[in-house]
Amino acid sequence: MDIYIGHSHRVREIFIQGEFQSKEDICHFYDSVKNCKTEIKITFLTANTLPCDVIEKLLYLNSLGNCCIEVFARNLYFYLYRLGINCTYLHYRNRQEKIRIESSNKKRYSLNEEEIKVLLQAIYHKYGYDYTQYNMQSIKRRIHNIMTRLNLQTIEELEADVLNNKNTFKEVFLEFSINITDFFRDPEVFAFIRQSLLPALSEHKHIKVWCVGCSNGKEPYSLAILLEELGMLHKTQIYATDINPYIIEEAKNGFYSSETIERDKKNYEMAMGSNAFVDSFHLEEKYMKIRKKYKKNILFFQNNVVNSRLSHEFQMIICRNLLMYFDVNLQRKVLEKFYSGMDREGYLVLGRSEEVTKEQKDKLFDVIHHTHKIYRKK
Ligand SMILES: C[S@@+](CC[C@H](N)C(=O)[O-])C[C@H]1O[C@@H](n2cnc3c(N)ncnc32)[C@H](O)[C@@H]1O
Repeated sequence: MDIYIGHSHRVREIFIQGEFQSKEDICHFYDSVKNCKTEIKITFLTANTLPCDVIEKLLYLNSLGNCCIEVFARNLYFYLYRLGINCTYLHYRNRQEKIRIESSNKKRYSLNEEEIKVLLQAIYHKYGYDYTQYNMQSIKRRIHNIMTRLNLQTIEELEADVLNNKNTFKEVFLEFSINITDFFRDPEVFAFIRQSLLPALSEHKHIKVWCVGCSNGKEPYSLAILLEELGMLHKTQIYATDINPYIIEEAKNGFYSSETIERDKKNYEMAMGSNAFVDSFHLEEKYMKIRKKYKKNILFFQNNVVNSRLSHEFQMIICRNLLMYFDVNLQRKVLEKFYSGMDREGYLVLGRSEEVTKEQKDKLFDVIHHTHKIYRKK
């Protein structure tokens, strides 16, 4: 990472190039904003995510009101925006884009499935990410969004751009990784986990849970909160994985906007949480930070479930709202992988609109709760 500092019209301008990789990078950043009596403008030229300490500093500078933050990467912009940090999204295509979005809201590309398959193959060969078995309707919607944003007219143009330009691939990668999540999402499922599954696992000396597609961490932290309440967190190791490395960094940070706190509290109560939701966080005016004790037993790392070899005889695998982006064949493959990575009689929790196939129900899994999509390894 490099930091360039300049001054113009009594403004200290700080340009940051690259991702923060080490403690030295963070110290370097702290030094760059130290003892500044004038306004500061910080521009993140390429970073897609930021570590905890930098976020905390930005929140502090933001609260002083003399700091202006500019961001080029969409991912980082939305992260800061969700945390209530005032920042401007810069994009070299910004002006064009505004005009285009206004005029092309109704524009529909005719996207041919065969052409899309060729594009997905090309991405696989060049970058090693295999989207060829993702759900076609969802892929189509996302390709449409990217083409609108990049002002591309044909799939061939997109293909050329993706193959020649890593940044375009990054756009595609981030667009394909849909990160919607919540604390105690579908609280009745978490209530069932708390009341039935976790007590059934409580006799184990060590418990291993894999939270697949964990997004920004709200799901594994929800689990950790319930485990702690049941006195089981200390003997549990949660592996929390996601294909998107930037969202994994957000998850590790454990910062969340407090804007949705009323919904979070309600979900927590419906999930039968036994304390107050806010007790699990350090609460600030606009954001909240998960308490350290919940982080200790969670190992966050990037992992693509499609070619993952993770197999730790898990007592529970939670993979919610991810399989729905795969086609039936890929779903079957991933479910088989879960089966072989699980302990005898381990639990599998899927999303509301996902399920194991009829044939797998016969051979691999018993249904524990039909509506909540909870299964047990046979
Ligand atoms: C819609 S979110 C669901 C988050 C959470 N499980 C929930 O239900 O609230 C899907 C997550 O799966 C991740 N994902 C997509 N493809 C993946 C893959 N092949 N391997 C691992 N994670 C993947 C995305 O990056 C995203 O964070």
